[in-house]
Amino acid sequence: MAQKKGRVFSGARPTGRQHLGNYFGAIQNYIGLQDDYDCVYCVVDVHALTTVETTRDLIPNTYEMALDWLASGMRPEESVIFIQSHVPEVMELHTYLSMVTPLGKLTDLPTFKEKVRQAPNNVNYGLVGYPVLMAADILLYKATVVPVGVDQAPHVEFTREAARSFNYRYGTSVLVEPDCKFTQIPKVIGIDGQAKMGKSLDNHIEIAATPEETSKRVMSMVTDPQRQRRSDPGNPDVCNVFSFHKIFSSPEEVASINTECRSAGIGCVDCKKRMAQNLNAYFAPLRERRSKLTENPNYVWDVLHDGDKRAKAIAEQTMQEVREAIGLPK
Ligand code: TRP
Repeated sequence: MAQKKGRVFSGARPTGRQHLGNYFGAIQNYIGLQDDYDCVYCVVDVHALTTVETTRDLIPNTYEMALDWLASGMRPEESVIFIQSHVPEVMELHTYLSMVTPLGKLTDLPTFKEKVRQAPNNVNYGLVGYPVLMAADILLYKATVVPVGVDQAPHVEFTREAARSFNYRYGTSVLVEPDCKFTQIPKVIGIDGQAKMGKSLDNHIEIAATPEETSKRVMSMVTDPQRQRRSDPGNPDVCNVFSFHKIFSSPEEVASINTECRSAGIGCVDCKKRMAQNLNAYFAPLRERRSKLTENPNYVWDVLHDGDKRAKAIAEQTMQEVREAIGLPK
């Protein structure tokens, strides 16, 4: 195998079945990076605890998300795919990093301020420390590249600073400063045509939905609000169905929809039908792989357990170096 360029680490909270936003915003990037990097992908269940009210769905959500990852082309023979809480070394590193982190830096982060705005009565200590735990994830595995959405860029910057502070404080170079890697399509708008696609707004389309479910969701998509009647000319530039055509349809079809919409040659119903058909064709191989993988109900858990072991081996090594650097050798 060709020499890899470095190590990738990324994590995602266990949110269950993945949607188009997850797929184009993250998963596709994860898959592609496997060709050039040694990849570690983590289901960050501990991070999920900062906001979830009940842990009832954590396990099924972990399963469904990992299954979507695998059906999308994650290769468990090469990449490490594991569950954050199964490698508790991350909590220890989190504590050590917290000692070199000024509190103000955490409370100034835009992501933290946003969470406080959303739920002012649920500002727990763990929420403030969220980026410290994320930094611990990345630094524990000595990742050089972190694929994330732009919203997470401040956290990766924080990780770099935490690594620098730690190394400086203890006169070491054990922790490695990572770089961000952004996705091509960073933001997918939901079927409401307004907000970023997400489960909480129920404006999403699951990648592994059936063709029927998919079509139903696509038919309910909001189009150009100015186009009231079939005979009105439309404006594809403001239509989210058109932006999906750009992803799922051929360049020729995109070009023809573009003209036909503007001249009212095609109506929204037909335009959506064609998009749904192309979307379903696009995901058909993935859905087929997914359903094959479920034939063995243990498969996903076997992959994750194997990943836990491989992740643990890396984590133990780093922690030994970290403890020695601090002056707390075991
Ligand atoms: N904070 C990330 C998010 O909310 C999830 C995450 C946790 C992560 N640890 C990470 C992402 C490490 C990249 C690297 O999306």
